[in-house]
Amino acid sequence: MARKTTYRIRQMKKKGRKIVMLTAYDAPTARILSECGVDIILVGDSVGNSLLGYESTVPVKLSDIVHHCAAVARARPDSLIVGDMPFMSYKVSVEQALENCGRMLQEGGAEAVKLEGAGRVVETVRAVVDVGIPVMGHIGLTPQSIYAFGGYRVQGRTHDAAAALVEQALALQDAGVFSIVIELVPAETARMITEAVDVPTIGIGAGPYCDGQVLVLWDMLGLFEDFNPKFLKKYANVGAIIRQAVSEYAREVREGAFPTEEHSFEMADSESGRLYGRTAGDN
Ligand code: KIV
Repeated sequence: MARKTTYRIRQMKKKGRKIVMLTAYDAPTARILSECGVDIILVGDSVGNSLLGYESTVPVKLSDIVHHCAAVARARPDSLIVGDMPFMSYKVSVEQALENCGRMLQEGGAEAVKLEGAGRVVETVRAVVDVGIPVMGHIGLTPQSIYAFGGYRVQGRTHDAAAALVEQALALQDAGVFSIVIELVPAETARMITEAVDVPTIGIGAGPYCDGQVLVLWDMLGLFEDFNPKFLKKYANVGAIIRQAVSEYAREVREGAFPTEEHSFEMADSESGRLYGRTAGDN
């Protein structure tokens, strides 16, 4: 399969083809996503909640994302790899953003970066794009600003708020983003934004009218039984599968039913004696 590029992602909107994006934080998962034809792998700062045990994305550090991004890149997926710039790694100054975004490409192996927000972030986006680093924007509910939002609340619910999001999207487009994530807004708001911009929009909790969709992989696989927002569809129940497998392993170890001959090595130079056929409690 041909590798996905930012150019091809942009073309998909023009051709009316939906863009499929998922998160991944490790090499084996990235390989599976690529084999399934996923267009974009986001090494999201959701790694904080999904893998690292944090309650939000705020504690995630640049070195965390670079580390996980490099693992994804080593899988050499055909999917475009986007590295998510974590909290405060691009907001101190334009120089700081350029340095850190460069690190995401050089050390993390990302092919593009994602920056949350608009407003003062727009000029940073312009500077990053200007040095040749493709940028994905992110508007609506931007989780790094969760304390400012006062919780995970749906954004853009009034006509004025929706119009403000359209303005943000247009400003990011003008600054050169190749696509924009829209998070947690009414479907109609996402439609207004999607129709207003030429670059693809990728929705999460933003209804069906975006040019593509993204979910956090561990959420859609059902690893976290307690996380059930309205927008999430669980395509599997991996939590239950893991629980069943681990319980079976524990039972077999305790009963001496694992390992058996099938999972054991023989000595190279002798009759190895009565290794097999023992029951638990033999010595
Ligand atoms: O970090 C992440 O996974 C994200 C997606 C929810 C878009 O930003």
